[in-house]
Amino acid sequence: MSLDFNKDPEFPRESIYPENWEFEDDSLGWKLYRRSKAEQWDEDKLDWAKLREAASGLEQREKLALSYWWALLSTFDNAAPVFAYALVKAHELEVKTRYKGFITMVTCDECRHNFVCGRSIQCLLPGFPNKFKPANEFEESVRRNVLWVWYNGSRYWNAYKESYNKYDIDILFTSFMMGEAAATTVFTEMGKLAKLKPFPEAFRSISVDETRHYAFTHVLMQEGLERMNEEKKALVTRQMKAGFTFLSLITYKPPKGFWKLPPGFEDMHYKLEGIARDAGLGVPTLEEKEKAWREAVLRVGAAVAKYGVKIPEIPELGISGEEVKDISEADVMPVF
Ligand SMILES: [Fe+2]
Ligand SMILES: [Fe+2]
Repeated sequence: MSLDFNKDPEFPRESIYPENWEFEDDSLGWKLYRRSKAEQWDEDKLDWAKLREAASGLEQREKLALSYWWALLSTFDNAAPVFAYALVKAHELEVKTRYKGFITMVTCDECRHNFVCGRSIQCLLPGFPNKFKPANEFEESVRRNVLWVWYNGSRYWNAYKESYNKYDIDILFTSFMMGEAAATTVFTEMGKLAKLKPFPEAFRSISVDETRHYAFTHVLMQEGLERMNEEKKALVTRQMKAGFTFLSLITYKPPKGFWKLPPGFEDMHYKLEGIARDAGLGVPTLEEKEKAWREAVLRVGAAVAKYGVKIPEIPELGISGEEVKDISEADVMPVF
């Protein structure tokens, strides 16, 4: 192809060039980006030595249950690639400069959250689950349950990448809303309930990040409002339900839809959660989780109602709203 240097170049579609910066306004998006930088924290500075020390006094089943929980959480906090991918798309699709800045910061936040999961396991049961050698059947099924949860994570990842071919980027980003709201609520609670150090501080710091992520989804919704037709509003409702279903595994109870898990998973899950709770992790009880979720859904519901978006019906929580059926992996795109 010959290039005519007397003219401006023609850029291919969905490229990260030409560049375009808009710094002029003082919108909420810019304020949040600045807040992201001011609120950074360092997971290396958490007192991991304290946890190693505590681990030496814990029983094997307690270390296993705690590691299990962190491994499960990591499914959702493996979100640095999710936001890194969103960042590539944000550049290709030329979203606002402030959004690109904010998504970059979320990528760092999520990397930190995921490393907290890994560091916790490293102190408790190094190598779990990949290099863990189960000593009996119980330990073997714990290891295998984690791998099956991660398998579902891989289904989610494929669906997530695919969703960029199906939905507008602003809808995609607003669908993070439910996940961020739930994360904010759950980690705030755990920050209060956890006893084992450094978990209380870790949960408090993570919830500071998640609160900011949640605020970002509000900004997106507010600023994308003019592009919200009825179809898109219905999609946001559907995404809220998908968010509830996807995150329920860690934040509520193992759900029926979407997840493909081994038989007996649920019994084992409750058993391990109970052991982890008694060991000082700060996992809320089922009643506390229901209360937290109900509050999160109603909070999101009140926020989106302003834009004419309805909340989904969630019978488990006694929430009435729009009926949303058949949540499958094609629907799932929310993240922590
Ligand atoms: Fe988040
Ligand atoms: Fe996170």
